[in-house]
Amino acid sequence: MAVAIASPSSSSISLLWVIAMLVLSVGMVSAQLSSTYYDTSCPKAFSTIKSGVTAAVAKEKRMGASLLRLHFHDCFVNGCDGSILLDDTSSFTGEKTATANANSVRGFDVIDTIKSKVESVCPGVVSCADILAVAARDSVVALGGPSWTVQLGRRDATTASLSAANSDIPAPTLDLSDLTSAFSKKGLTAKEMVALSGAHTIGQARCTSFRSRIYNETNINSSLATSLKSNCPSTGGDSNLSPLDATSPTAFDNAYFKNLVNNKGLLHSDQQLYNGGSTDSQVSSYSSNSATFSSDFASAMVKMGNISPLTGSNGEIRTNCRKTN
Ligand code: HEM
Ligand SMILES: *[C@@H]1O[C@H](CO)[C@@H](O)[C@H](O)[C@H]1NC(C)=O
Ligand SMILES: *[C@@H]1O[C@H](CO)[C@@H](O)[C@H](O)[C@H]1NC(C)=O
Repeated sequence: MAVAIASPSSSSISLLWVIAMLVLSVGMVSAQLSSTYYDTSCPKAFSTIKSGVTAAVAKEKRMGASLLRLHFHDCFVNGCDGSILLDDTSSFTGEKTATANANSVRGFDVIDTIKSKVESVCPGVVSCADILAVAARDSVVALGGPSWTVQLGRRDATTASLSAANSDIPAPTLDLSDLTSAFSKKGLTAKEMVALSGAHTIGQARCTSFRSRIYNETNINSSLATSLKSNCPSTGGDSNLSPLDATSPTAFDNAYFKNLVNNKGLLHSDQQLYNGGSTDSQVSSYSSNSATFSSDFASAMVKMGNISPLTGSNGEIRTNCRKTN
């Protein structure tokens, strides 16, 4: 051993590198989140968040979709760190004006209401980033979808990045290869991308997000295109809404995948997942097996929720999700 330390062989150096890189990469993906994180510091965190989500979804079912999307758009921009919740000020530029977010993401008031209730039961303990992760799960459950164990212990960013929001949140105009790259950049596989896209079984999109598809594309069912045009003119009506899953827009089921195999995806990016490429077989499988979709979706949500969290002494626990302390 002494000889090896004094004069390490190149193979032992390589081994040390492999070990160092493994330690680093494990740290990057899992960063010590835990499902029991608030068990002693805020035992009421889960029930408080769940009540807030349930009340909001009872008032408006679409809110379940909007809350799920907030967690996605948070996690894809420098990790799940609550950055999407920060308001712009005269001296701070957040992510709310990014192309994918402006006039589109919603649910901030619901998160504010939940946060103030959580602050009243355990002040300064539960991060906004964790509230988004739990609210996403509770939203899916409230609309009839699968449940999963949410990992916790994320801290909140004191910064945000408009440029990362513009570059890292995938656009509905992307083709399959660019969609796959966008997820791969976040450590998610093409398979996880397809599962996560099943989130489009709930919620709405604006005319501006699917106009070019319904007027110009050929891989869309023509009666669907015709009916969508009535509420999405070729010019004007940019913010008119249509459901991402016209079959069951407020039920978290596998109808999104059934639509795709019938060329009834609303967004260009949706139909890319079933357009003669490598993800067709998975879409087809989810379209006929909702249990497989549910289970893959739940696992992929946990993995998405693990993207680069701030832990330890990094970041802070915001008092107000809209601004840094
Ligand atoms: C695969 C790449 C994705 C693209 C290109 C994409 C794009 C979009 C677009 C364009 C909209 C409509 C926005 C509007 O017109 O205002 C939308 C809505 C939505 N997205 Fe995605 N998305 C993707 C993946 C995801 C993922 C991974 C999730 C969650 C896990 C998600 C959840 C949602 C939900 C729930 C809505 C409806 C929101 C509401 O009604 O408020 N999306 N998405
Ligand atoms: C359809 O495609 C044409 C040619 O690329 C383009 O000029 C037109 O703006 C597109 N229409 C819509 C509604 O996007
Ligand atoms: C398009 O959808 C309609 C309504 O579901 C269906 O009757 C029709 O057969 C579909 N068209 C094609 C070409 O598949």
